[in-house]
Amino acid sequence: MSTGGVTAQRGTPSVLALPGAGDALRERLTDGLARVEALITQRVDHDDPFIAQASSHLTVAGGKRFRPLLTLLASELGTGVSDEVVAAAAGVELTHLASLYHDDVMDEADVRRGAPSANALYDNSTAILVGDLLFGTASDIVADLGPQAVKIQAQTFVRLCAGQIRDDRPCPEGQDPVEYYLQVLADKTGVLIATAARYGAMFGGCDDATVEVMREYGERLGVAFQLADDLIDIASEADETGKTPGTDLREGKRTLPVLFVLASSDPADARLQELLRGDLDDDARLAEALELLRAHPAMDRAREHTFAVASRAQSVLEPLPAGDARDALYALATGVVTRVG
Ligand code: IPE
Ligand code: IPE
Ligand code: MG
Ligand code: MG
Ligand code: MG
Repeated sequence: MSTGGVTAQRGTPSVLALPGAGDALRERLTDGLARVEALITQRVDHDDPFIAQASSHLTVAGGKRFRPLLTLLASELGTGVSDEVVAAAAGVELTHLASLYHDDVMDEADVRRGAPSANALYDNSTAILVGDLLFGTASDIVADLGPQAVKIQAQTFVRLCAGQIRDDRPCPEGQDPVEYYLQVLADKTGVLIATAARYGAMFGGCDDATVEVMREYGERLGVAFQLADDLIDIASEADETGKTPGTDLREGKRTLPVLFVLASSDPADARLQELLRGDLDDDARLAEALELLRAHPAMDRAREHTFAVASRAQSVLEPLPAGDARDALYALATGVVTRVG
């Protein structure tokens, strides 16, 4: 797949075009990603052929490698890509990968990265255990980076899992559903992307203030990333995402455009509200809900909110010295919210 950017993975399109990056930076990032890939390939291997196959299944299938790219790019604010930065990037991608094996069980998803999900190809128990194994491998890699890195990874995973647990549950009585939803996004997705950026600055030898800027940028970028993912679930086609459109709707997930529609008092929204409140396991009802939602102004409202969060992430970069790395981080935030897959 031609991306005009840093890398090309099968199964999913790239958000990594990085128009802000010059040729030299682009080349360093491409080399760095190849090193991350080699480390992941080596570490997901196993003596048992079935375990080796099941744990490399999604890595081989594709994926954007967005988080390791962010780690490499953040390191460019300091001394750049090193063995430690590569290890940190691989640790983050493997933590992400583990969460995908588990997420597809939770979401009953059959397709991931343009291939059958692990739960569809094998079964739920295998998908859960392979996810656990991959998290163990991620922790093993991060352990070589020292106790502070391990603590950050552990706290990141606790928050990620808390977000996933709360994502699967209704908004508690008396809480604002939009606020609840945005907090779930920050937890399930924002924190790992924050850690990706933070590790890059840490192992790139940046000062504490820069590390904190990158953590904060990553957290906001991560929320924008998930807001965009939730819009893509409605608006994009399977060949763009490598996933099944409408999975969130079928699972009854109340993402931002759905919350906007449900809060509407316009009688023209009654049919869509009825569909969204009902059972969308039925293919015809799901198709109708998707069609109505795709054409609904709530999509543009949710897009505006998504762009505003990305723009807030960009504004966090202001204290950083001007340069290629900062420009590329700025461009990355635009890429995250304009992507279609
Ligand atoms: C999917 O992440 C899970 C979310 C947090 C939205 P990505 O969109 O980065 O998935 P891959 O790694 O490219 O497959
Ligand atoms: C998943 O969110 C977030 C994590 C894996 C932590 P989604 O359920 O929206 O991710 P996709 O759309 O299946 O990739
Ligand atoms: Mg999912
Ligand atoms: Mg999910
Ligand atoms: Mg999604």
